[in-house]
Amino acid sequence: MFGKLFKKSPAEYTLRIRPADLDVRLSATETLLQGVLKQGIAFPHNCRAGGCGECKCRLLEGKVRELTDKSYLLSAEELRDNYILACQSIPKTDVVISVDLREGLEHPLVECRGTIAAVDPLTHDILRLVLDLDAPIEYTPGQYAQLSLRGKRSGEMVSRNYSFAACPGADETAQRVEFFIRKVPGGHFTEALFEQARVGMTLSLQGPYGDFYLRPAPAPVLCVAGGSGLAPLIAILKNELGKATKPRDLTLIFGARTRQDLYLLDTLEQIGRQWPGRFDFIPILSGEPTESEWSGRRGLIPDHLVALLGDRLSQCHTYLCGPPPMIDACIELLVAQGIQQSTIHAAKFLDQSHLSPVLR
Ligand code: FES
Repeated sequence: MFGKLFKKSPAEYTLRIRPADLDVRLSATETLLQGVLKQGIAFPHNCRAGGCGECKCRLLEGKVRELTDKSYLLSAEELRDNYILACQSIPKTDVVISVDLREGLEHPLVECRGTIAAVDPLTHDILRLVLDLDAPIEYTPGQYAQLSLRGKRSGEMVSRNYSFAACPGADETAQRVEFFIRKVPGGHFTEALFEQARVGMTLSLQGPYGDFYLRPAPAPVLCVAGGSGLAPLIAILKNELGKATKPRDLTLIFGARTRQDLYLLDTLEQIGRQWPGRFDFIPILSGEPTESEWSGRRGLIPDHLVALLGDRLSQCHTYLCGPPPMIDACIELLVAQGIQQSTIHAAKFLDQSHLSPVLR
């Protein structure tokens, strides 16, 4: 009888996280990761799309529905031990999992509107988008947000992830944020944005997400950026300038196709002058015409790393941001050099278009 009178609300389940012993209420329409991030719990994750494996956790009790095949990301041992991907698992019952939470990323997830305050071209295909949000947001430099807008032709909401390109709280209200956006030919989001972006237009923002951030350590730092992947690294570097921590030597390698694809060189020079330790900035161009006057390095970044860093390469902690082929090739090279995977951190531009609307 009640079923006829009241609309049934979606089922809710309890997720218990061990060893922290935290309980979270989850709806049966959201993933474990989505539910915990809403509570500001610093759960390890990066892509939220079943592509990086960062959100793996051990299912101790209960049942989940898995959205994608996890076997290509988890080892045979992990599969046997009942590991799951939190970003691809929806609860079917109350659930108990085991995972080590991150420290320092306990930022509440914010969902708000952002009004475009400025659109500045950085290159012929990358623009800087400045948004004034209708709610304050906290994040750690290196993290990203999901931006959504309505496609002009399709009329559907389209979403993509972009790294914050400025330090948090750079303005007093903590409501102004900045992103670098590269136009992707045929990309629904960027084509819509490049066509429509104008001061006063609004977008939706959800974030912060990801655990790409500078880990404190005495080791020298190697940063590698490709294209608009400079955004999180600029935020990280600027943020470090304001700290009174011990200086760390830093090498920043910026990969681009041609000279016209390089940008913010003045800003990088300024950061380099203020950097408290050694600061090396090395642009590498992969498609600069041979007849041009460019006297810098040419080719692909992995082909230069050993020659550029020498013995220092094995001591560096590495931060990579850019297109997946660049990141994969750099990781392969670093691992072949005997560098521990735990000292390599990457933020890949993963395509989110296959996510269901519930997860986007
Ligand atoms: S696989 Fe879940 S966050 Fe990347």
